[in-house]
Amino acid sequence: MSKINKTFENILTSLPLESVGMIQLNRPKVLNALDTQTLHEIVLALEEYENAGIRVVILTGNDKAFAAGADIKAMVEAKVSDQINDLRERIWKRFNGISIPIIAAVNGFCLGGGNELAMACDFIIAGDSARFGQPEINIATTPGAGGTQRLTRALGKSRASYYCLTGEMFSAAEAYEWGLVAKIVPARTLIQEAKVTAKKIAAKAPLSTRLIKEGITASFNSTLEDGLKLERRNFYLTFALEDQKEGMNAFLEKREPNYKGE
Ligand code: CAA
Repeated sequence: MSKINKTFENILTSLPLESVGMIQLNRPKVLNALDTQTLHEIVLALEEYENAGIRVVILTGNDKAFAAGADIKAMVEAKVSDQINDLRERIWKRFNGISIPIIAAVNGFCLGGGNELAMACDFIIAGDSARFGQPEINIATTPGAGGTQRLTRALGKSRASYYCLTGEMFSAAEAYEWGLVAKIVPARTLIQEAKVTAKKIAAKAPLSTRLIKEGITASFNSTLEDGLKLERRNFYLTFALEDQKEGMNAFLEKREPNYKGE
């Protein structure tokens, strides 16, 4: 794949490394606020990458903001009926169905729908000056795309309630300490670090990365018993793959594996 076959207005797409796609939110004047079109473009780009065999995607913003939330200007006059019929629900469903790993690389503000977008990725790498929060309460609304759900699972009830109810922000160091963020790096090296991590994952056996993503996603939606069952079946499934033989033989023969995705 040399380049993506669609043109977008609110995002930039690139292929910084072999098998690695990048999506950069590009509405700097509004701190990358997420309107429906932007969310739709993100999903279209992800689907295009997925169909083209891209193995890992880095989703990022700019130095000032990953995204400062849903677009307040686009929402201010919305009615309940606009929101209930909203295309956004279907777009989020498509985002959640993407099978390849998505790394959120976060610098600057990561707020409201922006934090929800980052949390919907597989993991977050944050620059040390990033700021997180669910400030919807400050504009008399509530989180609408996972803030009360995913933040609670990451931070626990007490902290999630504190931050959703006060609308205060928390730091990258706190986000890391509390398990929301996988890794914290100097802000200026964020993209470089995200690329190193993406390259590492892109070199793994493709079907194993998908099965692991499926298992971890299922842990949010199932009982422990059902999740363990799915995980065990996926584990068995890898023994039908050539890559499993290659990975284990490469280890025993002390050489690098050569994966085929089969
Ligand atoms: N939507 C639309 N525009 C936004 C925006 C948003 N979420 N966040 C910032 N902007 C715009 C500002 O209106 C401003 O535009 P103008 O230059 O035309 O005035 C521009 O971006 C720069 O913002 P500020 O001047 O406010 O920048 P700052 O550095 O002083 O403050 C900030 C930064 C603290 C992040 C502040 O912009 C802010 O509080 N933004 C709103 C955050 C928020 O409430 N997010 C939640 C939205 S609701 C939501 O997300 C619902 C959901 O769960 C689905």
